[in-house]
Amino acid sequence: METKKLHVDKDVDNSENYAQAVDLLNKSEVVAFPTETVYGLGAVATDEEAVKKIFAAKGRPSDNPLIVHIGTIEELSYYTYDIPEVAKICMEHFWPGPLTIVMKAKADVLAPSVSAGLQTVGIRMPDHPVALKLLQQLKKPLAAPSANRSGKPSPTKASHVYEDLAGIIPCILDGGITGIGVESTVLDVTLDVPIILRPGGVTKEMLEQVIGPVLEPNFEQQQIESTPKAPGMKYTHYAPDAPVFLIEPNEETVQQAVTHLKLQGHRVALLAPQNFNEITVDYYFTFGNANEIEQMSAALYDALRACDKTDATVILATSTTREGVGTAIMNRLEKAAGGNWFQLQKQ
Ligand code: TXA
Ligand code: MG
Repeated sequence: METKKLHVDKDVDNSENYAQAVDLLNKSEVVAFPTETVYGLGAVATDEEAVKKIFAAKGRPSDNPLIVHIGTIEELSYYTYDIPEVAKICMEHFWPGPLTIVMKAKADVLAPSVSAGLQTVGIRMPDHPVALKLLQQLKKPLAAPSANRSGKPSPTKASHVYEDLAGIIPCILDGGITGIGVESTVLDVTLDVPIILRPGGVTKEMLEQVIGPVLEPNFEQQQIESTPKAPGMKYTHYAPDAPVFLIEPNEETVQQAVTHLKLQGHRVALLAPQNFNEITVDYYFTFGNANEIEQMSAALYDALRACDKTDATVILATSTTREGVGTAIMNRLEKAAGGNWFQLQKQ
């Protein structure tokens, strides 16, 4: 299958490109499109045949539910019921935006694979002109996970989608680089206290300011069986091919680790802020200025993907602050590293 890349930048008339995407979606096909977080792989959320194609294209396990994207708040009541007050407040404050709200799903409305057997559905209204225009023209909800092959870092550029899915999907709407760079916050409001199942652009602090206490399990707590989880979080994620180890962002510690690994015959890739450019290492990818956490989140997945293009046998990634979107960055890095930190004695 040929994969068309259709440009939808702001400066030209793109109506023909949107029309092609809408036409494909109405024919039960999948289309990749940009959102403010990462690129999504969309299919009409009420069309089971189309939704199944998402799982096939990504190689996604069928027990991992999809996020439904909507263009207006009004349509929410078609798909959910018993919408709690905290959810309404969150929508008012953070939609459109990088917040997915898990609510009770109405039976027999959405394609069964969307919820993957759960009684709930995660819904969000994306804050991106291309995603919103697509939804408005389609006038239907779009089920859309990140547009990467399962297990790989999410795509923040159309070229990332192309790398993973060329020949497998018919169309990518190319709207340039996505702004936030990590996936939306997933908030489950069906429990007594709302719980963050996946940290993202809307932080715990931002949520607590408007709805009061919110739970946010850390990496260790997430490993405990009884902690509520997004089904997708149990799978290997965001992982380049070579093993990743986290390390403190200290130049001396990092240089020592690199030297040690190289003595063992490793080719080392380093993922670190831009002030680590003096380290002697085989490959160095920066995710920006350590003091600008938004810049780092926007560049993270591109840097992780760049590691994959090298022949590095091990990747060192420096830890970041856990302030603001730093929580989401550290969550992704901890997953990529499987929770492993570099220790001089062990490696
Ligand atoms: O920013 C984003 O959220 C991007 C863009 C495209 O919108 N989408 C995205 O989708 O990251 P995906 O499928 O890669 O991640 C969705 C996560 C998975 O971990 C999934 O298990 C969880 O949300 N999820 C979806 N529906 C859920 C539900 N009903 N209950 C609990 N977790 C759910
Ligand atoms: Mg994903």
